[in-house]
Order: sequence, then structure tokens, then C-alpha cells
Amino acid sequence: MAQPLESSTATRPRPQAKGKPYWVEPLVTSVVLGVWVLYSLWEVFFHNSGTYGNYVSPYFSPGVGKWFGWHLLDALYVAWVPFLFRFSCYYYRKEYYRGFFWDPPACYQVDKPRPRYRGETKWPLAINNLHRYFWYLAFIVLIFLWKDAVEAFFFKNGFGVGIGSLLLLINAVLLTFYTFSCHAFRHMVGGRKDCYSCDGKPTTAYKLWHRVSQWNVFHGTWAWASLASVWAADLYIRLLIMGVIHDVRLF
Ligand code: FES
Repeated sequence: MAQPLESSTATRPRPQAKGKPYWVEPLVTSVVLGVWVLYSLWEVFFHNSGTYGNYVSPYFSPGVGKWFGWHLLDALYVAWVPFLFRFSCYYYRKEYYRGFFWDPPACYQVDKPRPRYRGETKWPLAINNLHRYFWYLAFIVLIFLWKDAVEAFFFKNGFGVGIGSLLLLINAVLLTFYTFSCHAFRHMVGGRKDCYSCDGKPTTAYKLWHRVSQWNVFHGTWAWASLASVWAADLYIRLLIMGVIHDVRLF
């Protein structure tokens, strides 16, 4: 006897997961991002400075507040840039839609019925459409972070290497990969073109797009690694400022 055809995703049998259960990744994501957001709020709203000697915390760079003589909540003037850059990142969107909204928590999971689905066409999620503009701002911040990374090797008594120097350097490197593996940047450098060789000219755009595409494959990895490096560099400098630890100079 013929079996009735299933009519919707809701009644379709789901494949058995071979690895970890589907809810592990969104759960871990929501916990890690939640703790990071709380830590960032504490850092931005409860501290006026992120400088220890030649080390500058990535939350406080560039020191826009100092440029204008505003010394209250110095991180507030700049921390919104990397925050919005990450918030609107295509990779993080997937992660926090799954982790925080559980909507749906993973591929092939039943979605909630949404009679008035508006997606990213309305406030507040519509701000995600500005991602490419946040990229430009994040790029400017990245230049300052490289400056801070270089200056972290020059102490009062000359060139040296401390744990803080290495953390700031690693942070600048990982943020560079994160920034230049961005989907929006990939589109900017060549993804918007329909043909790379139609005009018969050398295809520099293609080579650039190809290289960015290679980095883009690991965009999620750069996203998490750079988040960890920002966190680690800031925490190290914060603990130095608080006197909890002393800087370790390797030479
Ligand atoms: S897509 Fe992730 S930074 Fe642009």
C-alpha cells in the first residue's frame, strides 16, 4: 500500500546527528558571547583608561576621548565601532540568531511559525545592512591597533618584548585576518564583478578576490580567534592596571 507523502518540514523525519547534538553549538555560542558582552560593558562603562605604560587596551584605541579632552568613559567613544562591526558580521549573525534567538537553532530544525517575518528590513536588525560601512570604520581602528602593537615593543628603557607586546601583536594580526576575510570586503574587492577578464586587461581584482576568498573560508575561525585575542589583551592590561599581576618581560 502506498505511503502518504509528507507535506512539510515539520513532519519530515530529521536525520540523526552523527556528531555532537545540534544544540551544543548555539548553547556554547550564547554563553561565550553573553559573557563577552557583559565583560565588555564592565570594561567600557566602569573604566576611564586602558593604558599601562606603552600598552594600550584595544577597547580604548584610538584614544578619541583624550584627543578632545574628554576623560570620562574613554572606551565609549571608540568601542562601538568594533562592536557594531561584529554585531553586523554575517558570520556572527548566524551564530547569535541561533544562540540567542534559537530561531531556528541549527540547520534542519523546525522553525517557529512567523506570520509577520520582517527579517532585517526593520529596526533594529536593519542596522546589519550597514555592515560594509562599519567595515571602513573598523579598518581605521585596525590601523591604530597596529600602531599600538608596534609601540608595545618600545619601553622607557628601549626595545623589549613583554607578554603585553606579544598579546597586542597577535591581536593585530588576528584582527587583520578577520577584517580582510570579511564577506563585504570580498564583495568590495571583486565579488560585485560579473566578469574579470571581459575587458582583456590583467585581472588584479581577480587575484585579490581569490586571496580574500581563501581567507574568507576561515572567516568564522578568524572571528572567534580575534574575539579571544581582544579579550586576552584587554584583560591582561586591565589586570596590570589593577596591580593584580606584573608584566613579564621576555627580554
Ligand atoms: S562578514 Fe564578518 S566581518 Fe564582515
